[in-house]
Amino acid sequence: MAGESYHCSLCGRRVRIQSRADMPVLDPNTGFGICRSCIKNIYEFIEEDEKRNARFSKKNFKYMLGDLLAKNKPHVIKEYLDEFIIMQERAKKILSVAAYNHYKRMKYDLDNRGGDDEIDKSNVIIMGPTGCGKTAMLSHLSKLLDIPFAVTDASSLTEAGFVGADVEVAVRNLYYAAGKDVEKTEHGIIYLDEFDKIARKSGANNSITADPGHEGVQQGLLKMLEGSVVEFTERGQRKHPEAPTIKVNTKNILFICGGAFVGIEKIIEKRVKKDDSNIGFGSEIPSKEDTDKKFNELIHQVRPEDLMKYGIIPEIIGRLPVICTLETLDEDALLRILTEPKNAPVKQYEKLLAMDNVKLEFEEAALRQVAKMAIERKTGARSLKGIIEDVMLDVMFDIPKSNEPRRVVVTEACIKGEAKPQIFPLEESISA
Ligand SMILES: Nc1ncnc2c1ncn2[C@@H]1O[C@H](COP(=O)(O)OP(=O)(O)OP(=O)(O)O)[C@@H](O)[C@H]1O
Ligand SMILES: [Mg+2]
Repeated sequence: MAGESYHCSLCGRRVRIQSRADMPVLDPNTGFGICRSCIKNIYEFIEEDEKRNARFSKKNFKYMLGDLLAKNKPHVIKEYLDEFIIMQERAKKILSVAAYNHYKRMKYDLDNRGGDDEIDKSNVIIMGPTGCGKTAMLSHLSKLLDIPFAVTDASSLTEAGFVGADVEVAVRNLYYAAGKDVEKTEHGIIYLDEFDKIARKSGANNSITADPGHEGVQQGLLKMLEGSVVEFTERGQRKHPEAPTIKVNTKNILFICGGAFVGIEKIIEKRVKKDDSNIGFGSEIPSKEDTDKKFNELIHQVRPEDLMKYGIIPEIIGRLPVICTLETLDEDALLRILTEPKNAPVKQYEKLLAMDNVKLEFEEAALRQVAKMAIERKTGARSLKGIIEDVMLDVMFDIPKSNEPRRVVVTEACIKGEAKPQIFPLEESISA
């Protein structure tokens, strides 16, 4: 067998067998084999999963909470978010505190079972322009926290009876994230993304009947936010009277609702102007920077009544006491996003090319040009990766043709589409 090559039946990688350890599971007759690294992954997964389950078992729940509280202090959570999210300091703080307080409430609840005093939960609403990091921030938070966490796209929800997903789907998603454990589900966090999409399109001034679907979704969500027993069937099972259902009480589930709330700054501005006629940003045509500055100033002044005008029913707003606003990202912020976060696009490309023995170099002006183009596209940090991807396509196609150590330089002209990234030979290997 030694010297022969086999494909791993899981990852498909070709493995040259020097010793049994290279492919610990191998049937030379059928060619079925599992490589060392896949076995390692499976082993690690099982170990991690068992540890997690052990930590979550009811017996340990109380103990675990003490442990989690000690481990996930707000400043620690924020430090973690800082590794991935640029700017948005206030939002990171608010979320860190919200998560920490969520643990605290759970602990208080468990320590005082039977008592009738409890700490109210503080559901959060987060808003900010498109591509500023709302979804990204929450997805990183979910990776850190040792409690079930599920994201549901609110725009996919429909009122019961309409075609589409019922609001219960949000709880069902959490139930699956909790490994189908009801008790864990009841202490989890639900992130309702694209929450602004269920605003009554007509806003507060028009009749409710103009937009019955969204109003109905909001009413459904309200019940969940207030705390009610939500009943749903397993995934893939149709709802019918005899179908077995799962019941989850949402009283202790923390809800975080996020959305771009496009245009809300106009509502805020109208109100602010009414409150204080002195405020003004000049009447001449504002530059992009002025518009952003104005947006950032306005968005932080958002009040519940603005959300009401936007088309969220007052009862829901009352259940979302924490309002967290994110800023528009300017050119400098986008530049930092390209290189600083742990998973920054430039770092990712560097790693990819290093695997082909290539050192990737972006000139400062090139990165700035990427940021400039992203600003023009008005989708925040979202378009950064796409812009680089376009430029890198040919390089990534050509480079694997040889194994020679090389270096690729991306200049401003490359980003502008006026030149191709240059490939140069490099003396010594860079992967060493
Ligand atoms: N502040 C930031 N720091 C680091 N990366 C960011 C930041 N904002 C956005 N990004 C990057 O841009 C991408 C898009 O951001 P994200 O999905 O969080 O936008 P969003 O705020 O949810 O927008 P939308 O309202 O359109 O859903 C993410 O994958 C993330 O990598
Ligand atoms: Mg998003």
